[in-house]
Amino acid sequence: NIIVLDFGSQYTQLIARRLREDKVYCEVLPYHTKIDAIKAKNPKGIILSGGPSSVYNKDAYEVDQGVYALGIPVLGICYGMQRIAVDFGGSVIRSDHHEYGKAELTIDMTQHSVLFEGCEDERTVWMSHSDKVDVLPEGFVPIAYSPNSPYAAIANEEKMVYAMQYHPEVNHSEEGYLMLRNFARKICGITEKWDMGHFLKEQIVKIRAQVGEGKVLCALSGGVDSSVVAALLYEAIGDQLIPVFVDNGLLRKGERESVENIFKVHLKVPLVVADASEIFLGKLAGVTDPETKRKIIGHTFIEVFEAEAKKHDGIKFLAQGTLYPDVIESVSVNGPSVTIKSHHNVGGLPDWMDFELIEPLRDLFKDEVRKLGLELGLPDSLVNRHPFPGPGLGIRIMGEVNKPDLNLLREADAILLDELKASGYYTKTWQAFAVLLNVKSVGVMGDNRTYDNTVCVRVVEAVDGMTATFAHLPHTLLERISRRIINEVDGINRVVYDISSKPPATIEWE
Ligand code: XMP
Repeated sequence: NIIVLDFGSQYTQLIARRLREDKVYCEVLPYHTKIDAIKAKNPKGIILSGGPSSVYNKDAYEVDQGVYALGIPVLGICYGMQRIAVDFGGSVIRSDHHEYGKAELTIDMTQHSVLFEGCEDERTVWMSHSDKVDVLPEGFVPIAYSPNSPYAAIANEEKMVYAMQYHPEVNHSEEGYLMLRNFARKICGITEKWDMGHFLKEQIVKIRAQVGEGKVLCALSGGVDSSVVAALLYEAIGDQLIPVFVDNGLLRKGERESVENIFKVHLKVPLVVADASEIFLGKLAGVTDPETKRKIIGHTFIEVFEAEAKKHDGIKFLAQGTLYPDVIESVSVNGPSVTIKSHHNVGGLPDWMDFELIEPLRDLFKDEVRKLGLELGLPDSLVNRHPFPGPGLGIRIMGEVNKPDLNLLREADAILLDELKASGYYTKTWQAFAVLLNVKSVGVMGDNRTYDNTVCVRVVEAVDGMTATFAHLPHTLLERISRRIINEVDGINRVVYDISSKPPATIEWE
C-alpha cells in the first residue's frame, strides 16, 4: 500500500483516487503523522501531497524526517516537492512567474526515469504554484522541465526520492495517472490488485471491531450513500443495526413509499420509519437564510435520531453515508480548506450527543460507492439513482420552506424526472432536479393574466460532484418538460433552465 501524507491540498484525495482506480491500495494520513504510526501501516511508498502554504514560512508544515529513512520510495507533489527540496538541503523561493493552469512539460528522456516510462516526451500538465525550487539538493537531477520551471520534476534515483512541481493527479495532467502508476507499480513494486471487494471485506472487519456488541443507528435518506451504508452494516452486524428512515417532509414525490419498498421487500432489512415532517417544517417556518436552513435541518435530524435511539436499548453508534466530497467541502480533515456549504451530515456532533460516528464511505467518491453497492448486491435501480442531498427539497426552495411550495416543487420535479427517464437522459446525467425560485412573473393563460411561480430546471453532468457542467439536453426535451410542468402544475407559469457549471456555481442552489 501507499501512504499519502496530506499537507492540505484540495487535490489530495484525488491522488488516492487515481491510485485506487489502478487497484493500488492507498491511505491518506495527516502530514504530521508520526513515523511509528506510518511504519505500522507497512507502506511500500510515501507520497507527500500539495498544500497551500510555503515551506519557507516560519510555521510551515513539516514531515517526520523518519519518512526519508524508511528505505522506501518517496514522491513529492507541489508543496511535497518543495518539502523534499528543503529537507534534502536545497532551497525554495517565491517565484516571479506564478504558474496556474496548463503548462507544457518536457520530459528529459536522457535521464530514463522509470517515473515516465511509457509517457510521451511532451505533455500538458496542471500547475498551481507560486513558489519554486531554487537550488536543487545534492544528488538530485532534473528529469522534466516546463517553460517556467527548470525543475518541473526531479529525482534522486539512488535514494528513490522523486518530486513533481505539477499535479499528476488531476485529469488535466496528461498521462499523470501513468506517472502515478509507474511510481506505485514500478518504483514501489506494488503488485497486489486492490478492489471494492477488498474494501468491503476490510470495512466489515473494521465495523465489527469498532461496534463489538453495540447497536448502531443508521440514518437512511433513501439515497445511494445511506442505502449502501445500511446494506454494508447489515452485512457486517445484522440485527445490531437499526436503520431509521426519517420522513423530514422534504422528500420528493413517492420517495418514502419507494424506500420502504426497497428495504422491506427487496433487502429484507427491517426498517424503522419516523415521521418527523411536522417537526422539521415547524422549525423551518419563517427561515430564509440557506446556511441557517441547512443547520436547522442538520440539527433536527440528529434530534430525531436521538429520540429514536431512546426507544431502543444500548445504541452506541450512529452510521452515516458521508462521502469524501462532503468532507472536503465542509470541513478540512487534515489541513486548511474553505467551508463552502455546511453539509448537514458532516461537521461534528453537538456536545449533548454521545453517539460515536461510523462513516465507512468517508474516503470514497460517488462512483466508488456505486461499485460498492453493486458488490453488496443492491439493485441497479437504487445504485444508479441520482444523488439527493440530505436537506432535500429544503435547499431547493429559495427562501422560506412551506407545505404548499413543497407540493408545487414535488409535482414539477416528478414531471422532470419522468421525462428524463422516458428519454434515456436520466442515466446519462449525474443529477436532475427542479428548484422553486422565489420569483413570480406575469404570464398569460387562456385569456387571463397570471402572476405565478418560476421553476428552474437543473440537470448536470459530473463524475464525482466536485465539478459539473450543465447537461446539453435537446431543446425538444426541454420544451416538453417546460410545457408539461406549466400545464400540469397549477401555480407555475414559467420554467427556466440553469446553464451554469460548477465551479463557479454549485450544483444545488443553496
Ligand atoms: P454542491 O451543491 O455543493 O453539491 O455542488 C455537490 C453534491 O453534494 C450534494 N449535496 C449534499 N449531499 N448533504 C448531502 O448528503 C448535503 O447537505 C448536501 N448538499 C449538497 C449535491 O446534491 C451534489 O450531489
